[in-house]
Amino acid sequence: MATALAGGAVPAQNARADVRCPLSNAMNDDAVQAAAEALAQKVAGRALSVGEQRACEAELSELRLAWKRNPSAFSPDLLGMLKRIASSLATGAVAHKQSDPVAVLKECFGYDAFRPGQRAIIDTVLGGRDCIGVMPTGAGKSITYQIPARILGGLTLVISPLIALMKDQVDAMTEAGVRATYLNSSISLEERRTRVSELRAGRYELLYCAPEGLEASVGRALNELKLSLIAVDEAHCISHWGHDFRPAYRNLSGLKQRFPEVPVLALTATATPQVTADIVQQLGMRSPARYRGSFFRKNLRLHAYAKGDTLGCTAKEAALAVARSRPGQSGIVYCLSRKTVEATAEFLKKHGIRAGHYHAGLDVDMRSKVQDAFQNDEIDVVVATIAFGMGIDKSNVRFVVHHDMPRSVEGYYQELGRAGRDGLPSDCVLLYSWSEVKAYDRFADASDDDAQAERTRAQAREVFRMAEARSCRHAQLAQYFGEDLAACGTSCDVCQSFELFSKKPARLSAEERAQARAARKRERSESTPAAALDPDLSLFDRLRVLRKEIARERGVPPYVVFSDATLLEMASTRPKTNAQMLGISGVGPTKLEHYGERFLKALSE
Ligand SMILES: Nc1ncnc2c1ncn2[C@@H]1O[C@H](COP(=O)(O)OP(=O)(O)OP(=O)(O)O)[C@@H](O)[C@H]1O
Ligand SMILES: [Mg+2]
Ligand SMILES: [Zn+2]
Repeated sequence: MATALAGGAVPAQNARADVRCPLSNAMNDDAVQAAAEALAQKVAGRALSVGEQRACEAELSELRLAWKRNPSAFSPDLLGMLKRIASSLATGAVAHKQSDPVAVLKECFGYDAFRPGQRAIIDTVLGGRDCIGVMPTGAGKSITYQIPARILGGLTLVISPLIALMKDQVDAMTEAGVRATYLNSSISLEERRTRVSELRAGRYELLYCAPEGLEASVGRALNELKLSLIAVDEAHCISHWGHDFRPAYRNLSGLKQRFPEVPVLALTATATPQVTADIVQQLGMRSPARYRGSFFRKNLRLHAYAKGDTLGCTAKEAALAVARSRPGQSGIVYCLSRKTVEATAEFLKKHGIRAGHYHAGLDVDMRSKVQDAFQNDEIDVVVATIAFGMGIDKSNVRFVVHHDMPRSVEGYYQELGRAGRDGLPSDCVLLYSWSEVKAYDRFADASDDDAQAERTRAQAREVFRMAEARSCRHAQLAQYFGEDLAACGTSCDVCQSFELFSKKPARLSAEERAQARAARKRERSESTPAAALDPDLSLFDRLRVLRKEIARERGVPPYVVFSDATLLEMASTRPKTNAQMLGISGVGPTKLEHYGERFLKALSE
């Protein structure tokens, strides 16, 4: 009972199935006694981190609720004990660990160091200042509000556009021992009431909700909660200039007036200045600090092939070749039309690839089935239109193939960005042709909106120009987003040749090749730890199987248990003790407690 009372320890299976009963309702005398004793021990026993202190406060609120419902379950002694606990928590008599962001990073997420930009944003927010962070997909924006949520106390409100994603986000937080919940239209009225009363009792550090929800009961409930931070994720949705404008996002403009003292953190991966300016204005942010990360993601290997003779095979065959080069690994193949999506998925399946397909023409059930199968590693490849991806947080996508030329550079960057969020090497393959530029032209010709038609034509040409250019692909993309970047030397097919297909276009002169080799050598000397690992791959596969088993038991996607990067490090360094396990990036105390032993056992076999 005592563990069930700890806010972070709501069993994940329950969180998954959305059944949660108010614990305070169900407590009998013994349970109350046990819970109070466990709490007293925690408060007296050792130094508490900020998060632990909040968890204790939440447990105390639970007990308070239980007392209100059933005073007879509380003996005078017990009440005395609870009062002492309350006063030591309130007066700060409890010994404290530092509320150092680095400590929280390690304690919750098991990571040793911040990635570029994360610390700057966290410090700004902790200082109470508004901030806008523009960082590419996978850069690690979420941590910039999750860590302040723990340090600031009170409640951090996270506005996020995707209801489908909230559950996974909350599950991921719960697995890491962070107390999070969400309110949206997918939960029953009764469950909503329960959660709101738990929120009032201070049970959660993080609340996810959709912008639409702010007009409804969430909006009213906010008045009674102690808000410490408002994070607006995917903030480009607020802007007409963004690629996925959402009208309800405009309603967020009232938040700053309503909570003038609460800092607002806006996060987006969309880099154009128009979008940024719009976000700041729409959210009514006050002289926000701005942080702009680099758009260079060096673990993504960019390839581009003109369709036709140089490619030496059809686009479908190329997609198959990429999937075969990474057997059993996750990938996305983007196609322009629904028809091509279905035909390509059929083709891959016929050739033994575990593939599914996804487009907006399928019914909702079908779509979520495919999405879940992909998230849970039950199929490897999803062939999809660009309708697929916004709701995908999966960190181990190892390849993205553009079977057809994307409509814009921004779209291209957005879509390829879904690969390699865990930082491990991943392939992004662009297939393109001039005839597709002409197809976009025809599409534009049919439009009534002249300005839009002109944009369509220009955007398609820009993608084609980039694909054809013989300069570093990463540098070109960065340039497009206004960033100067030297040639990557290692991560694109212009700087280095890769063996993806048997027949390859020759791209570089001997001299250029020598330059690229030199750059590569420089790069290797500063290579990432993951690249330096020498994992036992059959052990890695066994760990993946165990991860899947645990994920199924807990009702969460496998990557939420541990990322591929974490498993690779385990397979490479083979930790034998709990302490060594904690040294692995991605293993924090909560995950260690829940499934560390099983992984240690697998590692020792
Ligand atoms: N300091 C860190 N060290 C190691 N891994 C990290 C670190 N920070 C974040 N990560 C991991 O990086 C991955 C991507 O993080 P996150 O989902 O926050 O990206 P994002 O910037 O929000 O991307 P998107 O724009 O797609 O939403 C996650 O698996 C996260 O756990
Ligand atoms: Mg994000
Ligand atoms: Zn390059």
